[in-house]
Amino acid sequence: MDKPGNVLMVCLGNICRSPLAEGVFKNMSSDLNVKVDSAGTSNYHINFCPDKRSIKIAQMNGIDIRFQKARQLKIEDFTNFDYIFAMDRQNLIDIRQIINENKTNCKIQLLNDPFEIEDPYYGDDKDFELVYDQIYKGCKRVIDNWK
Ligand code: 4NP
Repeated sequence: MDKPGNVLMVCLGNICRSPLAEGVFKNMSSDLNVKVDSAGTSNYHINFCPDKRSIKIAQMNGIDIRFQKARQLKIEDFTNFDYIFAMDRQNLIDIRQIINENKTNCKIQLLNDPFEIEDPYYGDDKDFELVYDQIYKGCKRVIDNWK
């Protein structure tokens, strides 16, 4: 059985999916004393706030992600976190390209395994609702698995 540890949520831009995943996971794990953060595999939006559609769906669910700032995944993340959760399979490929999994104790998995949480960037509010539901399910399963 997996045990609680520090969690990094990763997507491509760190403005749509992973900030939401960070917010949801923080909210769900507030009694667990774990660090939760998020990052992007790309450098497209460094220092940007989350997408307003992610802020909105978070807010509708009682979670405030307005003050997050996008950053890129870095090598220290593989020592500072116990779990890295990717939103889609391309994220997994990109993460694994940075580090050989044999060289880290960090577990690298899809958040909602075996499903992918698809990029909603070119989508609409409905896509963000779907992303929220998938993220919620993924986070809940991880935490249930720790108990
Ligand atoms: P995210 O969404 O990976 O969930 O943050 C995206 C944000 C930006 C881009 C793609 C996906 N982009 O191509 O700029």
